[in-house]
Amino acid sequence: MAAFGIRSAVPDDGAFLADMVVEAANWRAGATRPRPVVLADPVYRGYIAGWQRPADRGVVAVDGDGRPVAAAWYRLFGADAAAHGFVAAGVPELIIGVRPLWRAQGVGRALLRSLVEGARSAGFARLTLSVEHGNFAEALYRSESFVVVESRGGRDTMVRTLR
Ligand SMILES: CC(C)(COP(=O)(O)OP(=O)(O)OC[C@H]1O[C@@H](n2cnc3c(N)ncnc32)[C@H](O)[C@@H]1OP(=O)(O)O)[C@@H](O)C(=O)NCCC(=O)NCCS
Repeated sequence: MAAFGIRSAVPDDGAFLADMVVEAANWRAGATRPRPVVLADPVYRGYIAGWQRPADRGVVAVDGDGRPVAAAWYRLFGADAAAHGFVAAGVPELIIGVRPLWRAQGVGRALLRSLVEGARSAGFARLTLSVEHGNFAEALYRSESFVVVESRGGRDTMVRTLR
C-alpha cells in the first residue's frame, strides 16, 4: 500500500477539487462524462464554484511527492441551492473523490474521518451527503455512522450526527 499524507485544503486546490467532482460524477464503471459536461451541471458546479468560501473546509490526500490524489470537503448550501444532499440550512454537505489509482487503499476512509473531525471541531451538529444507489461508497458511509434519511430519484441522502 502506497504512503499518503493529509493536509488541509487551500484556495489553490479549486481545480483539483473540480477533478474530484468529475470522479464522483463518473463513479459507475465505464462512465466517461467529460469534465466540461459534468461541470456545466449546476449541482456539480455548485460543489466547487468560488472555492474557497469562508465556511468551506476540506482535506487533501497527497502522495510522497506532495501531489494531490484525493480530497474530501464540505460546504454550506441554502434551501434554494440545487445540492443533491441538502437537508437543512446550517448542515454542510460532504463531497469526496479519490483518483482511480489510489482507490481501495484506505485513502477515502482516512479523509472521511479527518473531515468529520474537522466539522465537529468547527461546531457543526450534522454532516450530510448524497450517494447514488449502487455505489459501494454507501457501505463506507454506513460504516462511518452515516444514516440514510431520504431515498429519492436513485439517490440516498445520508446524515452523520456529530454531537
Ligand atoms: C468512494 C471512494 C471515495 C472511497 O475511497 P477509497 O479510498 O477507494 O476507499 P477506502 O480504500 O478507504 O475503502 C473504504 C471501504 O470501501 C471498500 N471498498 C473500496 N473499494 C471498493 C470497491 N471497488 N468495491 C467495494 N468495496 C470497496 C473497502 O473494502 C473499504 O472497506 P474496509 O475498510 O471494510 O475494507 C473512492 O473509491 C472514489 O472516489 N470513488 C469514485 C467516486 C465516488 O464514488 N465518490 C463518492 C460519490 S458519493
